[in-house]
Amino acid sequence: MEPTRWPGAFREGRDLFTRNLRPGERVYGEELRVVGGVEYRLWDPFRSKLAAFLLKGGSVPFEREVRTVLYLGGAHGTTVSHLSDAWPEASVFAVEKSPASFAPLLALARRRSNVLPLLADAQLPERYAADVGSADLVYQDLAQRNQVAIFAENARTLLAPRGTGLLMLKVRSVTQRRPASTVVREARAELARAGFSVRSEVALEPFSKEHVALVLATPAPASTAH
Ligand SMILES: C[S@@+](CC[C@H](N)C(=O)[O-])C[C@H]1O[C@@H](n2cnc3c(N)ncnc32)[C@H](O)[C@@H]1O
Repeated sequence: MEPTRWPGAFREGRDLFTRNLRPGERVYGEELRVVGGVEYRLWDPFRSKLAAFLLKGGSVPFEREVRTVLYLGGAHGTTVSHLSDAWPEASVFAVEKSPASFAPLLALARRRSNVLPLLADAQLPERYAADVGSADLVYQDLAQRNQVAIFAENARTLLAPRGTGLLMLKVRSVTQRRPASTVVREARAELARAGFSVRSEVALEPFSKEHVALVLATPAPASTAH
C-alpha cells in the first residue's frame, strides 16, 4: 500500500483504498484487503466521485488541517465512510434531505463516531450552521439545477478562512440544452462572482459521466498593510 497525495488514501496498483476504521465491516459490499496486518477497504471510483477524482490525478492543496468536513448530499454514506476512514480524528457532518437515504446514513453514523448525519436541505444552511460551526472542507455532490448557488451559500456561511471546497458538478442537472463546456464555464464564472477561486478542474469520466470536479478556495484576505 502506497500513500497518495490525499491524506489517508492508499494505492495498490490501480486500486484505491482507505484503512478500515471498523475492521471486518463493509459499507457497500466493497472488497476488504489485509496488508501487513492492516485491513483496508477498496474505494470504488464508480460509486464515489471522490475516488474518481483522485484516480484521475486530482489533488487538493489543503492549506489547513481538515478537522471538520461539511458534506452536502451524503446519500447512503459511501464516500462519507471513506472520509471517516481517512480522517478518524475529523468530524464529518453529512447533510442529506431524503429520509430514505438518511436511514442508512444514520445507521453508518451509529457505527462511526466521526460521522454526524443531518437530515436537512442543503439549500438552508442556516438550519445546521450552529451544529457545524466552521468547516475546513466543504464537499458537495448533489444533482440539483441550482447546485452552484447551493455550494456558494454553504461555503460563504461555513467555510473557514483558507478552507477548501470540492464541488462535484453534475453538468446535466444544470441544463440539457447547452454544451457541457459552456455549463462548466458558467459555473466557474458564478463561483468567481461569489468570491471563490477555482484551483483546478478535473473531468470524472469514465467513472462518472457528465461530472466535473472543481477544487475551490476562498481568496486570501486582503492585506490591511498600506
Ligand atoms: C449523487 S447522490 C450523493 C452520493 C454521495 N455523495 C456518495 O458519493 O456517496 C446525491 C444525494 O444528494 C441528495 N440531495 C439532493 N439535493 C439535496 C439537498 N438540497 N439537500 C440535501 N441533500 C440533497 C439526494 O437525496 C442524494 O441522496
